Amino acid sequence: MATEKKKNTSEKLLEWRYGLVAPYINPGERVLDLGAGTGWVGKRIAERKGCDVRLVDVLDCNETDLPHSVYDGHTVPFADKEFDVCLLMFVLHHALNQEEILREAARVTRRRIVLVEDTPRNFVERAIDSLCDTLMSLEHGFFNPANYRRIEGWRAIFDQMGLALRGQDVVPPFFPFYYTKAVFALDPGPAFPDAAA
Ligand SMILES: C[S@@+](CC[C@H](N)C(=O)[O-])C[C@H]1O[C@@H](n2cnc3c(N)ncnc32)[C@H](O)[C@@H]1O
Repeated sequence: MATEKKKNTSEKLLEWRYGLVAPYINPGERVLDLGAGTGWVGKRIAERKGCDVRLVDVLDCNETDLPHSVYDGHTVPFADKEFDVCLLMFVLHHALNQEEILREAARVTRRRIVLVEDTPRNFVERAIDSLCDTLMSLEHGFFNPANYRRIEGWRAIFDQMGLALRGQDVVPPFFPFYYTKAVFALDPGPAFPDAAA
């Protein structure tokens, strides 16, 4: 069984990240944390909500005792509709194949995709975001294409993919993360008749 490592994140930051997604996760749901990083957000969801949480990522940075799989960044190694919720938290701007990852998230999810993204509104926010991400990526070894979209850009992708938006929260810029962020709750179901069949 996996053992926990030293927590490589601040308690305040962890609580803030948990608070962004907690309203969209019901007690006892089965949750896939896709792009889980250190796994501490998933661990908090498991502890506070009594959820069964699985972690998956292209790297193994897991510091928790939750089950973790490394995958190829394309095909999520789980069956269709195996989870109630798929969490994608600050992941997609690290990827060039955003639609493919969203499609995979929808395939393995029955009820909700919870997507949290940096959504810089202008050049200044984008530059600060890019700097923060570059520093973090160097520290942890993440790929960092800084593939940001504005909120309208994400909504256009959801429309194109037929993902119905069920909830949206906008997090205004705050120091030192002086760029806008957003939480989107998406219905993975009707848009993917093949997966649902
Ligand atoms: C900024 S970290 C976020 C970690 C975690 N979700 C959190 O909020 O604490 C971005 C994560 O996305 C992962 N990632 C990058 N490309 C990915 C892909 N194609 N599929 C899944 N995860 C990916 C990275 O390895 C990294 O762990």
